[in-house]
Amino acid sequence: MERDIQEILIDANQLKAKVKELGQRITADYKGKNLLMVCVLKGGITFMADLIREINLPIEIDFMAVSSYGASTHSSGVVRILKDLETGIEGKHVLIVEDIIDTGLTLKYLVENLKARKAASVKICTLLEKPARRRIDINIDYCGFTIPDKFVVGYGLDYNEKYRNLPYIAVLKPEVYSS
Ligand code: IMP
Ligand code: MG
Repeated sequence: MERDIQEILIDANQLKAKVKELGQRITADYKGKNLLMVCVLKGGITFMADLIREINLPIEIDFMAVSSYGASTHSSGVVRILKDLETGIEGKHVLIVEDIIDTGLTLKYLVENLKARKAASVKICTLLEKPARRRIDINIDYCGFTIPDKFVVGYGLDYNEKYRNLPYIAVLKPEVYSS
């Protein structure tokens, strides 16, 4: 895998420090509240697994899997739920944990969907965001790193389902995408 890497954008130490900082902020902000952290599969798993261990509160966790229609051609903002939450969220404070916000369409749909279920609040925690490609206005409550408009892999993020297990965020060599 390493030979496919062009550049490491964020290394393991930077990730660890940022996740710790976010965990401390979330701990302070949700003190005394019933927090449900919802990981968006699959990309969010690594971030989620590390983040929950930096939160010193009696949280609950759950998972959702979504796929956006026509992602490769035109992102319509219509999202299909492949796996839904196991429990109701009425009255709970929901924090969505996502790997990356690109156009923002997936997250906008998710936030509206979860708000409609009468959650007490719905906020967003994303490891990465790429503002260059944002298509809609979306309020990001917690963000790890703002990155340039490059396709990245690692720490949960994939290219064709590979590279999720790299312990850092990296850009692949151009020939990897063309082969
Ligand atoms: P969007 O914000 O609706 O455009 O979609 C975000 C989703 O697209 C993320 O959850 C990722 O699954 C995927 N994605 C966007 N940019 C990247 C990237 O640079 N690497 C890997 N996946 C990406
Ligand atoms: Mg994703």
